[in-house]
Amino acid sequence: MSSRALSGIWKRIEIVGDVAIIGIPFNMSPEEVRPFAMDVMRENSKVRAVWGRPRGTEGNFRLSHYVHICGEMRSETLYRENGATFLLDFRKVFFSQTLSYEHRRISSLVRRGETVINMFSGYGPFSILSKIHGAGKVYSMDINPYAYYYTMVNVELNKAYGVLPILGDAFKRIYEVEKADRIICPLPERDEEAFEVAKQRVKGGGESFIHVFAEVKVNKGENPVKEALRKFKGDFARVVRSVKPGTYHVVVDVRV
Ligand SMILES: C[S@@+](CC[C@H](N)C(=O)[O-])C[C@H]1O[C@@H](n2cnc3c(N)ncnc32)[C@H](O)[C@@H]1O
Repeated sequence: MSSRALSGIWKRIEIVGDVAIIGIPFNMSPEEVRPFAMDVMRENSKVRAVWGRPRGTEGNFRLSHYVHICGEMRSETLYRENGATFLLDFRKVFFSQTLSYEHRRISSLVRRGETVINMFSGYGPFSILSKIHGAGKVYSMDINPYAYYYTMVNVELNKAYGVLPILGDAFKRIYEVEKADRIICPLPERDEEAFEVAKQRVKGGGESFIHVFAEVKVNKGENPVKEALRKFKGDFARVVRSVKPGTYHVVVDVRV
């Protein structure tokens, strides 16, 4: 297949620092994507490596499976987003540029001095941006040791010293820290469980918030936002991504 014929996959490319990631369509092999990947490297002098990503994430750590296509055999990169800098290895920690809008939206809601708990922090984007936007303290939890490591590095890179990385099961560790003004729960697969725990650890009184990432299933013609608001009785919701036909990840802001 010529690289011209592959140009339809341009929209599937993400540039993450000096690495490019190509979403591999269902009907193509990594070999078929290679000529296109070589073009990407030729046309972007800063791109040092190209990786392919078939759809989907797996396991507790929500990791994608990546295939090396060309360039350096390296998946750790410095990534800039919303004015912050993050070191991450997308083969070791969950990474999705689709979340960048939510990183900005939620962190910009943080009020000066707030205590925030991020139950599922990954490499730390919600936590670090919340601190940059004025949070007092951010408890930043993840069960993946690499997420903990990269969050520590990213706290240093951004001098976001009120962020406290915590390694472990957030469903247990959350009881070891003080109650929070705002709790972020970005784990759609366990949305109801996370919401129940967050309700117990949020200060309440009408000025606290839980941001729960919900997984909702709808029939054709039904609105996933309405369904998510019905499930979590929130004030605001928006679709983050479509996972497969009829299944969506929707973020819901709930005032408590
Ligand atoms: C969707 S990812 C988080 C994305 C991240 N907040 C971001 O914006 O890039 C979910 C994260 O939850 C973590 N995780 C899964 N189960 C967990 C648990 N029981 N306790 C803490 N972290 C958990 C995974 O390791 C993964 O990093």
